[in-house]
Amino acid sequence: MAQVPEYIPGLAGIPAARTSICYIDGSAGKLQYRGFPIEVLSERCSYEEVAYLLVFGHLPSASQLEEFRNQLVSERGLKFRIIDLLKTLPESGHPMDALTAAVAAMGMFYKGDHIADPEFRRLSVIRLIAKLPTIVTAWHRIRRGDDPIKPSHELGHAANFLYMLEGEVPTRLAERVFDVALILHAEHSMNASTFTARVTGSTLTDPYAVVASAIGSLAGPLHGGANEQVLTMLERIDDRSPHAVRSWAEDRLARKDKVMGFGHRVYKVKDPRATILQGLATKLFKKFGSTPDYDLAVELEGQMADLVGNKGIYPNVDFYSGIVYQKLGIPMDLFTPIFAISRVAGWLAHLLEQLEGNRIFRPSQIWVGETDRAFVPIEERA
Ligand code: SDX
Repeated sequence: MAQVPEYIPGLAGIPAARTSICYIDGSAGKLQYRGFPIEVLSERCSYEEVAYLLVFGHLPSASQLEEFRNQLVSERGLKFRIIDLLKTLPESGHPMDALTAAVAAMGMFYKGDHIADPEFRRLSVIRLIAKLPTIVTAWHRIRRGDDPIKPSHELGHAANFLYMLEGEVPTRLAERVFDVALILHAEHSMNASTFTARVTGSTLTDPYAVVASAIGSLAGPLHGGANEQVLTMLERIDDRSPHAVRSWAEDRLARKDKVMGFGHRVYKVKDPRATILQGLATKLFKKFGSTPDYDLAVELEGQMADLVGNKGIYPNVDFYSGIVYQKLGIPMDLFTPIFAISRVAGWLAHLLEQLEGNRIFRPSQIWVGETDRAFVPIEERA
């Protein structure tokens, strides 16, 4: 009888693809997109440049980047009926659900012959990267009774998102901080939402359905939803003295409750993105003053290192991202949609890679139920 492979919960450590998009060394805290260290990309590039690198596999020349930027700008607008769709949704709904609905609907407007058509794939990539920020900001304004703000044709990707929120052109510092935050969230190998994208894409469905499925996966509190949960968790800690923070952490760990923003399936040291986000936070604090939540976060990080550092539980990307977004004046329930407008580049890169030599995902299972059971008619059942 054929050897049944062992069942590994969460497929931890099980390869699901051969890939050249994102390299992570979890014990060394190394993260590289297409072989370039995240520290270099976040220092030297814009989000547009990194999205190009992820999708096309190489850094663009100046003219290639210019053309890519122009294509994104030209596709930022939304169909009126997508705006109408957003207006029909309940204002109290979560922005991630509005984003899922609008992206799925995009597939009805931008129908292509087939995912195998290179032009349909190229256009879909441009439209999804360009329009997700417009959907998120349009929803944010519609849910409070305001009209959406038309996308700028002059501002870069990061600045345009901040502009579409409230109609104000951001400062250079705010633009750069947000641009780097988008770079940091753009890709991360076989995380749950990217794996979702590859599984959905392996059926050859349209790219809009692929991204809608990935958004649903990202929304979960164990994944992209953690950034919003971190701030909620921090804001509930009233006594912020070192002793009280330690007791809080000890109680939470003793109850086996997750401390949001900590731990990672791959990183067993501090997530390098958390370190870069801390640097962004302090840049903002120099200009706009610190926040009590940041001081508490640093205290909690120290206490957690003492308590569970030996288990490899350290801050992940979500621990400091919310503090940066809050300092930029972004509402808390937009934190995870921001994760999505960034990660869409990674999802699309993985979709295109999956389609090269694709085989539909169909794993096996370990059967623990009964078989060939005798059927009892309902009138004879107890
Ligand atoms: C992201 O995969 C990616 O790359 C994701 C991401 C990306 O860029 O796409 O990096 C983004 O999703 C970051 C993670 C955001 N989520 C959170 O911050 C939620 C809190 N973190 C945990 O839920 C957890 O750490 C996960 C989900 C991130 C990882 O889960 P694992 O690898 O399945 O680990 P586990 O839950 O099996 O925990 C192993 C042990 C357990 O203790 P024991 O039962 O062995 O005694 O570590 C403990 C857990 O209780 N543990 C934690 C903890 N994380 C792990 N204990 C308290 N707080 C935590 N945060």
